[in-house]
Amino acid sequence: MSFRIEQHEVIGSTSDRAKELAASGEQNVCVVADRQTGGRGRRGRSFFSPSGTGLYLSAVLPPEDLTLLTVRAAVCVAEALEEAIGEKTEIKWVNDILLHGKKICGILAEGAFGPDGNPAYAVVGIGINVLRTEFPPELLDVAGDVESLTGRRIDKKILLDRLLAKLEDKTRTSADVLLQYRNRSMVIGKPVTVLRGTERFRAKALSVDDSGGLWVERNEKTVLLSSGEVSVRPDESE
Ligand code: BTN
Repeated sequence: MSFRIEQHEVIGSTSDRAKELAASGEQNVCVVADRQTGGRGRRGRSFFSPSGTGLYLSAVLPPEDLTLLTVRAAVCVAEALEEAIGEKTEIKWVNDILLHGKKICGILAEGAFGPDGNPAYAVVGIGINVLRTEFPPELLDVAGDVESLTGRRIDKKILLDRLLAKLEDKTRTSADVLLQYRNRSMVIGKPVTVLRGTERFRAKALSVDDSGGLWVERNEKTVLLSSGEVSVRPDESE
């Protein structure tokens, strides 16, 4: 399988377009844009997507492994970036890739079920801050771009090709994906603040389970967080 690329100079959201394509029965297509006017993140947030700097893409994938979709995508992005920059990245459960403590990539996995109740399609949206970026004040402390953090100018097309080759690699086992994910986890063993809906509590991150959920210890009890609408923040970034 190799992806058909649908390239846009500007679009609302590559994920919205990918979902339209998926709903009309297309698979193995990847929507790429130079700029998004309505880039979306998790928990209803927007994703800063200016022109000329980022790689914004949404791939329509066969819905075989919806459970580990975000985890798998995070490992693919981490590895593709590491091959380009020659240093290790970190993953903040569940969907953020960090370099030198700054978020350089966000991932939004979305799926839909058919009338038979089976998964119909999966769309994975990936936004990577590749080239030098002027972030708005509210993002300055948390976000970074690969070029400013490493001093390297990355070719976005080569990065895209590497990433898509990894996303479509069917030989990769879930066990290997989980191993690579756990190796890069920046929250395991650390105190975190959990944001779940309007609820907010402190806990200690213990481990990532085989479905990509995060075990945390809260008030001496262990609780499994599934990705859904939950976010964790390492406490030092509070
Ligand atoms: C997050 O950090 O919460 C996830 C951000 C995901 C952003 C990407 S950019 C390409 C694709 N299109 C979107 O509208 N969102 C995703």
